Amino acid sequence: MLKDKNIVLGVTGGIAAYKACEIVSGLRKQGANVYVIMTKNATEFITPLTFMTLSKNKVVVDTFEIPDSYDVEHISLAKKADLFLVAPATANIIGKVANGIADDMLSTTIMATTSKVVFAPAMNDAMYKNQIVQDNINKLKKYGYYFINPTEGMLACNTKGIGRLEEPKIIIEKINTLMEVGTL
Ligand SMILES: Cc1cc2nc3c(=O)[nH]c(=O)nc-3n(C[C@H](O)[C@H](O)[C@H](O)COP(=O)(O)O)c2cc1C
Repeated sequence: MLKDKNIVLGVTGGIAAYKACEIVSGLRKQGANVYVIMTKNATEFITPLTFMTLSKNKVVVDTFEIPDSYDVEHISLAKKADLFLVAPATANIIGKVANGIADDMLSTTIMATTSKVVFAPAMNDAMYKNQIVQDNINKLKKYGYYFINPTEGMLACNTKGIGRLEEPKIIIEKINTLMEVGTL
């Protein structure tokens, strides 16, 4: 189902950013073309080179980087996307998109896309339960954005609770379902 589909994967600055590598590989194994956009903060956790090597495509971080050919990159990626996945999604990106903020490559491209957008949040349990984060999630759901909920378990901050990124394998299964059935 993912064969020759263009999946744009947004990676944000959370400790689970390394798990996005497995998502890229899994999507590629199913024949998808994967284009990674990282936030600047995500590059503190993992390098663009890793995603470029795994995806076999250029990785974009900077909105104002001079492109190789004339191409307004956030618009071309936004148009190219058959599906847009943000994994892991920080509280910050969820808050920005929910409030119309487009101040970096990832948030700007999400704003410009007409494809389905799926967020897979990952964060500390108190952050996840924060009413502002929950309100932002509910607002985005109301506007038709999709969520793959985090799971419970041991978190990087040494507490047990909800906030772990869903397993990459399950994220890929859900992406397949969304492409096939049109809903999660
Ligand atoms: C070690 C470390 C781990 C972090 N993990 C997370 C996380 O899992 N989820 C989250 O929402 N923010 C996390 N943050 C905070 C984000 O990096 C911060 O909110 C940042 O502004 C997010 O930027 P971005 O959304 O543009 O990538 C973490 C910060 C540090 C220093």
